[in-house]
This record gives sequence, C-alpha cells and structure tokens, in this order.
Amino acid sequence: MNRWISPELFSAFEAQQTSAHRLFTGPNVWVERLGRDILISFKTDAARDDALCGLREWETQTGFQSDRVFSRFLPKQNAERVAPVLMEGSPNAPLQTVVSEGGVRYEIDFGAGYSHGLFIDQRANRAFLRERAPKRLLNTFAYTCSFSVVAALAGAQTVSVDLSKKSLDRGRKNFELNELPLESHRFFADDVLDVLPRLERRGEKFDAIILDPPTFSRGNRGRRWQVEEQMEKLLVAAIELAAPNALILLSTNCTKLNRRSLEVMARFVVKTARRGCEMHSEPPLPDFPPAEGAQTLWLHLR
Ligand SMILES: C[S@@+](CC[C@H](N)C(=O)[O-])C[C@H]1O[C@@H](n2cnc3c(N)ncnc32)[C@H](O)[C@@H]1O
Repeated sequence: MNRWISPELFSAFEAQQTSAHRLFTGPNVWVERLGRDILISFKTDAARDDALCGLREWETQTGFQSDRVFSRFLPKQNAERVAPVLMEGSPNAPLQTVVSEGGVRYEIDFGAGYSHGLFIDQRANRAFLRERAPKRLLNTFAYTCSFSVVAALAGAQTVSVDLSKKSLDRGRKNFELNELPLESHRFFADDVLDVLPRLERRGEKFDAIILDPPTFSRGNRGRRWQVEEQMEKLLVAAIELAAPNALILLSTNCTKLNRRSLEVMARFVVKTARRGCEMHSEPPLPDFPPAEGAQTLWLHLR
C-alpha cells in the first residue's frame, strides 16, 4: 500500500462508527488510529520519524486532530517486545481509551504491554460472526474477548478461554462497556488444550468456535505451544465440540502457515472426522495491504 488512507475511506470509517483502523502501511512501519490517539509501530527510527511527518500532512488533509501519538518498536524476537512510548501529547492523561468498531466499544490500554487490546485486522471476521448470530460461541485464545462481545451482542451465550486472567478481566470490561450482562457468559483462565477435552467430556456443543492462537507460547505445566505443529490437533479437538452447521474460524499470524496450508490441513481434518464443510475468507480490509494481517479461513461445517 505504502500510502495513507484516503479522506473518503476515513469518512466511511467515521460513518460506520469505526474509530480503530490503519492509517498507513510502509515497508518498516505502520500507523493505527485508535480513537483520538495514534500508534506508530516501527522497525527503524527513520521510518517512525517519516511516519510522524506523514501523519501531520494527513491530518491537515482530513481535518482529524489526534490527542496523542504513541510509538512502539517492532523487535525481531517476541521476548524483546516493549510497551508503546508516548511521543506527543499529555503525559498526565490516562493510558486507557475507548474505541468503537461498527458502534461496538472496546477498551485500549497503551500501558498494558506490547499489545493494546484490539487486533484491528480481525474487523471483518468480527462483523461476519455478529451477522451470523450463533447461539453458543466458544472463543479460544480469547485475549480481550472481542469475538465474544460481538457474538453476545447478537444474542449468543459465550465461553471465552485464555491463559491470562488479566486479559479475561479486560474482556469482562469490554462486555460492560457494551452494556452486556455477564450472566450468560463464562470466562476460563486456563490452557485451551486442557479446556477443550473437558468441554467435550461434559457434552458441550457450540455453533461457532474461534481458533486464533499465537505463533508460540507456554501453556499449563510449561507445555510448549507452536502453532505450525499444533493447529491440526487444535482443529481436531474443536470439531468434536462443533454442533451441526457450526462455523469455525481458523486464524494465524505465523508466516509458515498461509491461507492455502490452512485450507489443506482443514480439508484433511474435516474428512477424517467424517464431516463435510465449505470454506470462505472475508474480503481484504480496505485499510490493509493485500496479504498483511492475520491469515484467516472460515469453515462452515455440515
Ligand atoms: C493472538 S492473541 C488472540 C487474539 C484474539 N483472538 C483476538 O482477536 O483478540 C493470543 C492469546 O492467546 C493466549 N494464549 C496463549 N497460549 C494459550 C494457551 N495455551 N491456552 C489459552 N490461551 C493461550 C494469550 O494469553 C493471548 O491472549
């Protein structure tokens, strides 16, 4: 893409009540708008500084005025990830803010570490899930529960699973921000690989299941999670929990797994489970260059 989003696209986001989106994508940098704040994610200082100059020009063109600019270094190793740093704006304002996506509200926290709370590249998948209005949602690797929130707004009972209790607490807060009572919703701070067999033993079934794991992590008892090795096993376990006609979202940022390899793996697993399925991916987002962001595939099981 290597250019700023057009004033027309910006107006379209405003009209859709979407205040969390990309503004710019370059070779060593990208820029996100998060409410009235800006986050520049950069690999080199020069790319960050150029993006800041570009932002000023873009603001003049569109009339948008940001309150604060944060920047975040994109390291090669996950272990070197650090929280965003304030570059411009008041150091006394709270580090939390609220953004909106199609009118749905989410809290952003610039002080929470490397990730601020909302993966904007999942916007179309969240909208698709909401439109399909599943009755029962299982959201694995739920993070701040954005998929659970949209399903709940469409009337679903939800189960959100994440190792991080803190992330699930932020998820509960996102429910509250959208005036969703918590009664029909369960939050398990546990390892997905331990929770799925437990749900199966209880005979639970779901109409939609979200599988959006990290590339690498350590689960219960130090168990190593490596997406390219375990995505297949995860899908096998998820299919056991899938009701007839269920939807499953397969999603990954791992560069070793592209859409095609997700599709090949899914066909094999679905056939072995003696289920049928159709597949689709949502169209690319207008604020992202093609093939940037998560690789995602929806399975429509029979
Ligand atoms: C890529 S984020 C998921 C993003 C989320 N699907 C969304 O769209 O907001 C990965 C999440 O997986 C969680 N996680 C990592 N390993 C896990 C495991 N074995 N079991 C449960 N959660 C895990 C992390 O705590 C993190 O919140």
